[in-house]
Amino acid sequence: MNYFKSVLFASLFLIGFSFIVTSNGICEIKNGETIYKQSCMDCHGKDGKGVLAPPYLESDRFKSQDGVVALIDYIMPATSPDFCTGTNAEDVAEYCTEEFKFKIPKDTTAAVDATDAEGRKLLFNQTCSVCHGVDGKGDLARPIVDSTLFKADKDVVKFIDGLMPFHNPRKCKDECSENAAQYIIENFELKLSNK
Ligand code: HEC
Ligand code: HEC
Repeated sequence: MNYFKSVLFASLFLIGFSFIVTSNGICEIKNGETIYKQSCMDCHGKDGKGVLAPPYLESDRFKSQDGVVALIDYIMPATSPDFCTGTNAEDVAEYCTEEFKFKIPKDTTAAVDATDAEGRKLLFNQTCSVCHGVDGKGDLARPIVDSTLFKADKDVVKFIDGLMPFHNPRKCKDECSENAAQYIIENFELKLSNK
């Protein structure tokens, strides 16, 4: 009897646990799904195969999840990009990535060994280029090349640490900010006024 009781309790526990896990998952997806149906589906279709837009099912255009967020944040919905920004853009990006099976390489930022020039380049290309372009000339964001915004190296580090990547600055902190700053200073001809 005791044996059955413990099996029963264990099963109830597991069912309860998985319910909590899945219902959280569903909640997170809900916002994205709602936004998608209201503001995106007319053009992109229920299945992502496109109505007034090209199909994006299994899109391999994006280098990272940030890229999906940035695209939605800055240029979608195509007719009124200000309509879906910030956390809403993040939610609907997550929904699109899962629902339409975007092929996004695993986030490797943390694994990048940025201690040499190659590593710093990889870091910039993976974390910053989606908005600034690999050449720093600006794609979705302002150009970095020839920037006159900073006085000294440490200001560049501080700026990146506090504000970049634009929608998720926590993604590049401390050593990452130093390495990213070093990369752009060496490669994009920043006009530091104390040089
Ligand atoms: C008025 C029509 C329209 C609406 C509404 C719209 N889009 Fe788009 N979307 C487009 C067009 C057109 C493109 C192709 C643009 C390009 O490739 O330059 C596109 C491209 C995209 C892409 C890139 C797909 C790829 O693989 O190239 C994504 C992701 C996307 N839209 C998401 C969204 C989301 C999310 C919303 C709602 C918040 C939305 N769109 C609303 C027209 C629309
Ligand atoms: C999601 C898009 C996005 C990503 C990713 C991003 N940035 Fe930015 N960046 C911006 C925007 C938008 C601005 C303009 C901010 C402003 O002026 O308020 C900007 C401004 C800058 C500037 C100042 C340029 C100038 O002279 O005005 C620098 C430097 C910079 N970013 C570095 C970086 C670095 C380094 C990374 C990667 C760690 C990064 N950014 C990632 C969007 C982005």
